[in-house]
Amino acid sequence: MLAIMGAMDEEIELLLEGLEARETLERPGVTLHRGVLDGVPVLLTRGGIGKVNAAMTATHLLHAGATRVIFTGVAGGVHPDLRVGDIVVSTDLVQHDVDVTALGYAPGTVPGETPAWAADPQLRAAALAAAGEVEGVRALEGRVASGDQFIASQEGVQRLWTGFGAACAEMEGAAVAQVCAKAGVPFVVIRSVSDTADHAANVDYRTFMPLVARHAKQVVRGMLARL
Ligand code: ADE
Repeated sequence: MLAIMGAMDEEIELLLEGLEARETLERPGVTLHRGVLDGVPVLLTRGGIGKVNAAMTATHLLHAGATRVIFTGVAGGVHPDLRVGDIVVSTDLVQHDVDVTALGYAPGTVPGETPAWAADPQLRAAALAAAGEVEGVRALEGRVASGDQFIASQEGVQRLWTGFGAACAEMEGAAVAQVCAKAGVPFVVIRSVSDTADHAANVDYRTFMPLVARHAKQVVRGMLARL
């Protein structure tokens, strides 16, 4: 079954409104909704903020029968071309806050794990095609950098851009990617840019997050017809 997850209510509530034949599955720390969205059986949930919540929720989704996972939400733009309202479809994901460099590992590398988790080509193609149909929205493919940090400085942006080649910064995607990869379950992350992760990020985020969350939702609905 296809699973769709976001971190916050704003990121999934517009999809939840469209969910038919809805059942609720209570799990420790998270509520999963099972139902039918635009004719497609789905699991839908708000997992909470940060990598730990994301990993926990992804694990519950897999136990509940998820065979493909789409993460939808907002992000801070890092790629210099990105503007508020644009969409990033993940090529791969890194955990920018992992630091085991003292033991000789590259920044972002969890010992024993891949340095970056690749998103599924078929889900990426469907997301990109669906994003192309959302009016007034530009989409690009790129690396998503996740960490338990809200990035709000030019130095932070530079670190992610030059150090990781990241297109955007958020707080969950790579944790979902790691869990899905271990289970062999395809995944993709779709992020609308709510801010450009710089000194104005806190204000922009509050202003634009509810608006741009709609874009990601439109992309997910467009994907349903293509999967
Ligand atoms: N989500 C939205 N904007 C973000 C930012 N600037 N940093 C981390 N996560 C975000």
